[in-house]
Amino acid sequence: MTQKDQETWLRHFVHTNFGILLSEEKVFSVASQMQVEAFKSGCNSVPEYFSKNHEESSTHLIDLVNSITVNFSYFYRGEEQMLFLREVFAPDWLKAVRGRHPREGDLRVWSAGCATGEEPYSVAMILDNFIGLGLTDLRVKLLGTDLSRMALAEAQAGIYRTEALKDLPLTLRERYFQSLSEVKVQVVERLKQAILFRTLNLMNDIYPFKNQFDLILCRNVMIYFDEKTNMKVLNNLTRFLNKGGYLLLGQSDPHPKAHAGLESVEPGIYRKVA
Ligand SMILES: C[S@@+](CC[C@H](N)C(=O)[O-])C[C@H]1O[C@@H](n2cnc3c(N)ncnc32)[C@H](O)[C@@H]1O
Repeated sequence: MTQKDQETWLRHFVHTNFGILLSEEKVFSVASQMQVEAFKSGCNSVPEYFSKNHEESSTHLIDLVNSITVNFSYFYRGEEQMLFLREVFAPDWLKAVRGRHPREGDLRVWSAGCATGEEPYSVAMILDNFIGLGLTDLRVKLLGTDLSRMALAEAQAGIYRTEALKDLPLTLRERYFQSLSEVKVQVVERLKQAILFRTLNLMNDIYPFKNQFDLILCRNVMIYFDEKTNMKVLNNLTRFLNKGGYLLLGQSDPHPKAHAGLESVEPGIYRKVA
């Protein structure tokens, strides 16, 4: 099998399994590195490596794809949306939850494609600071998922360079971080405990959730996907949103035009109406 054949095979595999379209340049780099791994395992080609050693080859491929996709994020990204969460979502939800039956209980928040965790931590800070009672007292469930295990390990550690906090209001900075050095800070343990980080490929047909969410953020993730994949992911996200719940997308993400069941509330903010 020629290098070009293997590149075509890999491009198709990555697109089908992760929704990501690799450019010529990137597919060349991924194919070259996967060939080295294949030879090390005694295989003559990348497809042979996948058929003989599926688990190991998939792990290598995910790590490679992760290293070329952008895990870039920062706290309080999309300030307008953060203000919406603070001024509209948090007070509305608190009003609603008071009237909820305890079994209907928890507020469920999902940051899908959370990268290194700045997004779910920002939401956790806004809610915790707003309710002033502590997230666990009000049974807030926060989930952060990503394709990248490396990014999730960083999210779990909660250690950041101070420049990632540049947009975060001072009160939140002072309340939720401890200083490790002049250039590094760590999220306080209490907040780390409040978020569950898990790997999840948004391309999967089935998402492993029993319950729906009140708030889903999927920002700056779908920029990697083609139109068909976007539609599929958007349908899945909407399916896991409670009626009245909100979906937040990034400014550069493709936005639903007249997507059934979602009404536009503010730029990048959609509410499930049916
Ligand atoms: C630019 S980061 C966005 C981080 C954060 N949501 C934000 O807006 O700051 C994009 C993330 O999407 C993740 N991603 C890309 N394709 C994915 C897929 N198929 N399933 C899950 N996550 C994916 C990448 O690993 C990366 O961490």
